[in-house]
Amino acid sequence: MAIQRPIGTEDLLPDDARFKEHFIHTAYRVFGRYGYAPIETPLFEQTDLFVRGIGTATDVVSKEMFTVVSGGNLTKLVAGEDLPAKSRLSLRPEGTAGVVRAIAQNGLIVPGGAPVKLMYAGPMFRAERPQKGRLREFNQVGVECLGAEDPTVDAEGIIMVMRFFEEMGIPRESMRLLINSMGDENCRPAYRDAVKKYIFAHAEDMCDECLHRAEVNPLRAFDCKKEGCKRVMAGAPLIPDWLCDDCKAHYEQVKALLDAAGIAYVEDPTLVRGLDYYTRTVFEVQVDNGMGSQNAIGGGGRYDKLMEEIGGKPAPGFGFALGLERCKLAIEAAGAQTSVPATLDVYVAAVEDDLRPEAFRFLQQLRDAGLSAEMDHQSRSLKSQLKQANKQGARLAAILGPDELAAGKLHVRDMASHDERDLDLAAVRAYLDACAAGATGTVEGLLG
Ligand code: HAM
Repeated sequence: MAIQRPIGTEDLLPDDARFKEHFIHTAYRVFGRYGYAPIETPLFEQTDLFVRGIGTATDVVSKEMFTVVSGGNLTKLVAGEDLPAKSRLSLRPEGTAGVVRAIAQNGLIVPGGAPVKLMYAGPMFRAERPQKGRLREFNQVGVECLGAEDPTVDAEGIIMVMRFFEEMGIPRESMRLLINSMGDENCRPAYRDAVKKYIFAHAEDMCDECLHRAEVNPLRAFDCKKEGCKRVMAGAPLIPDWLCDDCKAHYEQVKALLDAAGIAYVEDPTLVRGLDYYTRTVFEVQVDNGMGSQNAIGGGGRYDKLMEEIGGKPAPGFGFALGLERCKLAIEAAGAQTSVPATLDVYVAAVEDDLRPEAFRFLQQLRDAGLSAEMDHQSRSLKSQLKQANKQGARLAAILGPDELAAGKLHVRDMASHDERDLDLAAVRAYLDACAAGATGTVEGLLG
């Protein structure tokens, strides 16, 4: 059998690849309205960045990272040698750590210049068990805003996510926006201890993994799907009762701003998210229709300590990421369009073989003038050429025939209405020449 792609990966065929382009383009257009500028960071980083940023106790770091080993280093590893930190590399499981690193390394936060608002799009890699909506290579669009603690940053970020989803065709009423506050370094440690104590007090009903994790990451037990753990955790202490006054006030302001913007949300005091860097606001958008058990189409929150944790100058942060593949499932389930049809302005057909060189020259002229154009590359009959024009979704067929050319005419057919007429070839060429300077041609312009 021919070699297959690795499990948990996808080939994006032209329709899917066009959807991806449309998704990213729409996200950048919407996020751009809120002041976000694009950034690209490497697909792999030093493993330590993710260990320190995301946290060793998370599944993402402890179980799901793909390690990258260069040829020379592989030989060393096989020989049992240790690699220096800068040679220990991993494919990025998410985008936040890399963007925060890039902000620190490039000194993007300048006095008086904060906040720095950046958006990104691209593939992320997690060695998870593949299932519907859960891949090993998947795509995210996301933003990170560094240098501002104000609740307006959190609120506008959440508003922006909801606007984007609506613009992509997911109805507001089919989405559930969950929010919570995770507290900060003043109030969270006591809360974590309380949850840890509670878990150990109910140890006989909890699964081994939760008990094992309770030492380092007790809050993850809220996400455990096992019945026993779910029953116990239903009675666990909840963070809202433990928030300090500052965190409480911050959370109240975020909610007030969302209320004022007419954004409906559900407060979920058990929403803890799977990455360790969060402080204060966290949120997730879930959809039920069309999804499997992986129903979060996006999520994020505030991370006021991450910059310090990776060795940068302290700077509060907020951001989120949206999963393209899951959004596509949600958009399809909502009955909205996910296929972006291919478009072709003009299909150039030649009535006889002798005219193919002329058709080829005309084709280039159309393209140089900014129109999308195609011709037959397989010496097909005129009938088959017109079938191809239809198949490729051409708006117009330009049919080059010897009699018309001799009379200085170009015969055209509107592929939708089947209207046919002759155009003055000199006028068409003059139009195309004029467009070539700025490549701004249109089918309407061509028709005169
Ligand atoms: P996350 O919740 O891990 O957050 O991922 C964000 C979104 O990526 C999820 O809601 C989901 O739609 C998608 N996603 C995650 N894992 C997979 C997967 N294996 N297959 C398909 N889709 C997936 C983050 O990544 C944070 N960096 C978000 C953030 C930015 N927080 C602050 N700034």
